[in-house]
Amino acid sequence: MVFLFLCDADRGSIFAQAFAEHLPEVRFSMQPDQVAPDEVRFIMTWKPPADLDRYKNLEAIFCIGAGVDQFSGAAIPDGVKLIRMVDQSITRMVTEYVIMAVLSLHRNLHVYIDQQRHRTWHEIVPQPQSADRRVSVLGLGVLGQAALHHLKGFGFQLSGWSRSARTIEGVACHSGEAGLASMLAQTDILICLLPLTKDTAGILDKDLFEKLPRGASLVQAGRGRQLDADALLAALDAGHLSGAFLDVTDPEPLPSDNRLWSHPKIVITPHIAAITQPQSAAMTTIDNLRLLRAGEDPKGLVDRAEFQVV
Ligand code: GLV
Repeated sequence: MVFLFLCDADRGSIFAQAFAEHLPEVRFSMQPDQVAPDEVRFIMTWKPPADLDRYKNLEAIFCIGAGVDQFSGAAIPDGVKLIRMVDQSITRMVTEYVIMAVLSLHRNLHVYIDQQRHRTWHEIVPQPQSADRRVSVLGLGVLGQAALHHLKGFGFQLSGWSRSARTIEGVACHSGEAGLASMLAQTDILICLLPLTKDTAGILDKDLFEKLPRGASLVQAGRGRQLDADALLAALDAGHLSGAFLDVTDPEPLPSDNRLWSHPKIVITPHIAAITQPQSAAMTTIDNLRLLRAGEDPKGLVDRAEFQVV
């Protein structure tokens, strides 16, 4: 029984050690040409491999990242499970990113950085206090809930939106179309942590920005295709929005002549909010393999019908 690792060798060597120590009965390999395709039961990869049909006995594909939109449309046989990475390293790093961006927007760091470039000493007062700042999260899965949990400590007014209704202590939870509109109307800092699906592609558009109060700002750590960049630039230029942190763009890397780069109210990071850390991800994967082999659902099992992206 082979677990084929098709990601970078640096992380692969850490996975290999963890497998040797904790799951020696499964043969770990990073060399597709050195294993018999029929023996491959599990593959770990970031993108669907082109030659998937070689592996007739494949049981599951493990994605090394949290997002699986890149698998949409891939010819994965029906019986093969797709499992995304639900790992504490990703959750912690996304939470750090969200806290960094929210505090930066809350305390006008993006404006002060721009002022520094122009050697301008100008205090933005009055500084709103956290208890008066309304922070909302789109997407209440593992990542959204973790971010909200840590944001609570700063005393912000918290809301969250998800497709189906949820209850989270200390968070005003909204769902559905009407819930989205009423949450947006009461949001100063909007955080997008949604997966990319046919329903969320292009969700951060003119219509959504118009529902936010004047002066609101955006943290985009979902997927690039969710954002209408022209609508964001127009909303920033009109002063309707006051700032944005973008960790994801469309395309990636963002071409050097793209206007998003030079906009003074935008901070861009190159899709680094979370980078799967191999030590903990290897243990998460091993735990999942144990669940699979016991006939149970692994953590992060993807409902593939839900993840189709158009
Ligand atoms: C990063 O965006 C991931 O999906 O892990």
